[in-house]
Amino acid sequence: MSCNVLVAGGAGYIGSHVCKMLYSKGYNVLVFDNFSHGYEFLVKYGKFILGDIGDRKQLDLVFKNYKIDVVMHFCAYIEVGESVQNPRKYYVNNLYNAINLFESMLDNGVDKIIFSSTAAVYGMPENVPIDEEEPKNPINPYGRTKWMIEQILSDYSNSHGLRYVAFRYFNAAGADPDGELGEAHEPETHLIPLVLDAAMGIRKSIKVFGTDYPTHDGTCIRDYIHVNDLASAHIKGIEYLMNGKKSNYFNLGNGKGFSVREIIDTVKRVTGKDFPVEEVERRPGDPAILIAKSEKAKKELGWEPEFGIDDIIKTAWKWHQKLRSIPKPQI
Ligand SMILES: NC(=O)c1ccc[n+]([C@@H]2O[C@H](COP(=O)([O-])OP(=O)(O)OC[C@H]3O[C@@H](n4cnc5c(N)ncnc54)[C@H](O)[C@@H]3O)[C@@H](O)[C@H]2O)c1
Repeated sequence: MSCNVLVAGGAGYIGSHVCKMLYSKGYNVLVFDNFSHGYEFLVKYGKFILGDIGDRKQLDLVFKNYKIDVVMHFCAYIEVGESVQNPRKYYVNNLYNAINLFESMLDNGVDKIIFSSTAAVYGMPENVPIDEEEPKNPINPYGRTKWMIEQILSDYSNSHGLRYVAFRYFNAAGADPDGELGEAHEPETHLIPLVLDAAMGIRKSIKVFGTDYPTHDGTCIRDYIHVNDLASAHIKGIEYLMNGKKSNYFNLGNGKGFSVREIIDTVKRVTGKDFPVEEVERRPGDPAILIAKSEKAKKELGWEPEFGIDDIIKTAWKWHQKLRSIPKPQI
């Protein structure tokens, strides 16, 4: 199946990997990004338009000039801590600008969208592993914007015919196995790249926030899902929507949890580097365990994750050395 896909936020971490997979499968890829957190060096596949989803006129022009079949919406600010300090920034970009995108789509007859949601919609879940029907109680503005958008999409789907797939990613991690693309967040807040910085000697140590959680080694447990496994789910999502199926939402995780200590040990083993580990107090708002149940995506989309934790760390390490050794714009 081939069709025209607008990848909004395609110059970012996850979007750039999805563009590569779309391109390799023969889809026509149009990347749309304002470079607020994306990079030219991550735009390698498809045509590129520098633009902001808050700009209605520009979006209308794009939809008029290109016959877009499906939109993938990756644009968002993603730092939980910042969303607590500066919620306006998050409500404007993640909510208001997203609605602007939906408005432009509807007025231009584009009726299919894949939305990047998050495990943060569940907040502090009572039941783990978490299935899609777990109550949604996001505990920060970032998570709330994502849950609000899911609810808006559901209403727009029921009344305006905008069909959607919302993917609730757990912890996206790893990099393109060819070493061409990877994570380049600035500032970086995700555990694996921070531990890799410690392995490279760029950070003096890695901090472990809390060692008294009710887990087997006292540290928090998360479900890490390789970015290419997220990309393959997006391909399934397009097929699903192009086949006329109904709006839906899916968890995307590996269904296995790794503790902070286990991630650190895996990084030490895979990289062969040792580095100091500092144990400090818990941070507020970190649930002890977040593990996905992704049976629904497996059953209804035929999706199956392929990458394990060693692959995640190996591919991230390969990319990370390249990213940190070359000045960013020239990579
Ligand atoms: N990284 C994760 O672990 C994770 C987990 C759950 C959900 N998500 C969601 O997945 C999506 C992608 O995450 P990511 O890690 O690739 O983030 P990212 O910051 O690397 O990518 C987001 C991209 O969107 C662009 N962008 C932001 N606002 C824009 C706007 N108004 N107009 C045009 N472009 C804009 C940025 O420049 C960037 O290239 C986000 O919506 C995020 O909330 C990510």
